[in-house]
Amino acid sequence: MDKEITIPSGYPFSGKQLVEVISPDLLQSRIKSIGQEISKHYKNKIPIIIGVLNGAFLFMADLVRNLNIEYEVDFIKIDSYGDDTKSSGTVRLLKDISADITDRHVIIVEDIVDTGLSLNFLKHRLEEAEPASLKFVSCLYKSEVAKLDFDIDWIGFTIDERYFVGYGLDLKQLFRGLPGIYAVNH
Ligand code: PRP
Repeated sequence: MDKEITIPSGYPFSGKQLVEVISPDLLQSRIKSIGQEISKHYKNKIPIIIGVLNGAFLFMADLVRNLNIEYEVDFIKIDSYGDDTKSSGTVRLLKDISADITDRHVIIVEDIVDTGLSLNFLKHRLEEAEPASLKFVSCLYKSEVAKLDFDIDWIGFTIDERYFVGYGLDLKQLFRGLPGIYAVNH
């Protein structure tokens, strides 16, 4: 895959440059080591791993393939951006989890923590069910932007405030399938 891609005409934001900032190899090696840490942390436990749709679908799939413990999976779908490139400021719950998480060890998997709005929402919502523990893993973290009053337990990469696509992240629902992370240059 090219390290620089010009969005072709006919697509949203045509003419803008996508520039690779995290290669597929770097992503995979970081995910491998996070997988090892999580496996160690949950040894002899069976956590429920909850992916936040849509963005986390690729990260979640790669992360669980790097675990050497038993686990269950579930998904929750929320929306804070719509099709915009800026957070709308509110979070909508579009699909709730199916699992009963009371007294269970729960891991939330996000593709990106940007403003922190989504993760704050998820934390408060899932805590109502009184899980035995609740931890968070995010592939990307905008450290200068995110406002969280708790720590993210595992972070893949800390990134700047630009808009990013690829590896699950979209621009108007496109470019989720790029194997690396690309910055959208204006
Ligand atoms: C993205 C991303 C996170 C959230 C992070 O989801 O997947 O869930 O935004 O942003 P925040 O920290 O500012 O809340 P989005 O609402 O774009 O939906 P998607 O996952 O379907 O792309």
